[in-house]
Amino acid sequence: MTTDYEEQNYWNKRYETEREFDWYMDFETLYPFIRTTLNPNDKILNIGCGNSSFAFDMLQYDYKFVTNIDISDVVINKMKDKYKKYPSLEFFVQDTRKLTFSDSSFETIIDKGTLDTLICGKEGDDDVDSMMKEIYRILKPGGKFILLSHAPDERRLEFFQRDYFEWNVKHQEIQRTLPDNRPAVHYLYIASKNLN
Ligand SMILES: C[S@@+](CC[C@H](N)C(=O)[O-])C[C@H]1O[C@@H](n2cnc3c(N)ncnc32)[C@H](O)[C@@H]1O
Repeated sequence: MTTDYEEQNYWNKRYETEREFDWYMDFETLYPFIRTTLNPNDKILNIGCGNSSFAFDMLQYDYKFVTNIDISDVVINKMKDKYKKYPSLEFFVQDTRKLTFSDSSFETIIDKGTLDTLICGKEGDDDVDSMMKEIYRILKPGGKFILLSHAPDERRLEFFQRDYFEWNVKHQEIQRTLPDNRPAVHYLYIASKNLN
């Protein structure tokens, strides 16, 4: 079944009214799993930031430079306004399938929910492939792509394994019990771009 998740209009409409929300888990919960992967001085890109406080929360943990992109101009305008007192948080309207950043611009790229969104669209496989090519292009050699997904390795590793990439991927399952006692399972992929 396909959805409109890859459409800017879908997200713009949603963000006109939707309140702050973090998909899957917040930064505090994810932090123990990615702490040793991140360096405080890294230039970090948060793909499909939405209206979550994830990037702001990173500042509280001493990360200094967090650039955020989203396809929705509605949410980016709201986030720019909300965090205008924090110049080290940058927000841009951009499509992750065709980014305007130069090659090798970031040490770390994080995606929580955007790849999962694109894969549901009409051209899901091609959209994710374009996204992965752009991430690979703008990541520095030796840089890390951190993907948090609802899907296990048999549905996600293939996107790292195409001929034109040289990733070294580690993955793990994160199981939790939510405050209302429901179980939750997510999958963390940490991919290093080869140094060559
Ligand atoms: C599932 S939400 C995740 C939001 C946020 N990362 C979080 O964890 O709460 C997916 C986000 O991806 C954005 N998005 C969808 N397609 C996109 C694209 N092609 N380029 C950039 N952002 C996109 C949506 O606007 C939405 O904010």
